[in-house]
Amino acid sequence: MSAKKNMSIEEILAAARKSDSGQDSPESSPPADSAQPTADQEPTAEKAQPTGQKPASSKPPGAMSVSEMLAAARGEKSADAEKSTAPKTKTTGTKAPPKPASSKTTPSKSSPAGPKDTSSILAAARTSDKRGPMSKAQAAAQQSTTTSAEGKPKATVPPLPSKPEYAMSATAENPAQNRRGFMSSFLGVFMGSYLAVGFTTLGLTNVMWLLGLARFMFPNILIEPPSTFRVGFPDDFGPGQVETKFKAQFGVWIARYEYEGQPQIYALRSVCTHLGCTPNWLEGEQKFKCPCHGSGFYKDGINFEGPAPRPLERYGISLASDGQLIVDKSKLFNEEKGQWQDPSSFVPV
Ligand code: FES
Repeated sequence: MSAKKNMSIEEILAAARKSDSGQDSPESSPPADSAQPTADQEPTAEKAQPTGQKPASSKPPGAMSVSEMLAAARGEKSADAEKSTAPKTKTTGTKAPPKPASSKTTPSKSSPAGPKDTSSILAAARTSDKRGPMSKAQAAAQQSTTTSAEGKPKATVPPLPSKPEYAMSATAENPAQNRRGFMSSFLGVFMGSYLAVGFTTLGLTNVMWLLGLARFMFPNILIEPPSTFRVGFPDDFGPGQVETKFKAQFGVWIARYEYEGQPQIYALRSVCTHLGCTPNWLEGEQKFKCPCHGSGFYKDGINFEGPAPRPLERYGISLASDGQLIVDKSKLFNEEKGQWQDPSSFVPV
């Protein structure tokens, strides 16, 4: 029996089929002595299977039927399965023993989340978000969260106290007051501060000192026209003509006339000998007339009316190298002193 246990199911089934199909074959029938298999002879018959030898035609009395062999094989298989964990998947014509139903359904029905809580299932059904069933731990966490969110009392904020009148906004009540406030703050910032006034005064004083120092660095110069200037050629002046165009710029008249019977060109100073006013040449009256006190002078400059005590003065005049007349205001010639006889006081024509 121990040798039989070493045979696999396929070998046992093959031996059984061969024994069933080869019962009537006389060639393959074993001898009578050996027809009665004993426990020791069973391996002999099993060894003949791979060589194609057919079993004995008559079933020995101690031989096992197919059903018995199958039963023995099933029992042996279950025993072998219990001994070794390696599964035997290749079967030829035999069905694997049926597995218990409980072993097939139990793992599929059980969820990995564990057992469900009835209260959680009911709570999930009542809620609008329709959350699925949850475990006891999830239900406990949700219940604690809901309790803390709903059970916590809301903080009541007391109303703010009303503002006093002096704290009310001036803009909303009185815009004029707001403008006055702005002006007062502006003046307060720029003018009302003693410190600001002091620094402003100090800054202005420094600026004035700097301006005075800058003016001191420049000399007092009276900018005047040059004392000598050209008035043109002698032919530019006709006989008896008094040219007044140089009066405004140089304060001189250029006249072509005669003095003591000598025709000449001379330059008269346009300053009244009375008190220093500026006389005018009157072409219609052929005289110089002072507007201040009415003094009158002839064309040659001799005073003849009014308070003027003496004739007009002459400047020096000469001919330049280019033939033009040059007036020199640095030289004065007075008639009462006999200086008009000086050749520098006229140019003869
Ligand atoms: Fe010319 Fe007196 S200033 S008349």
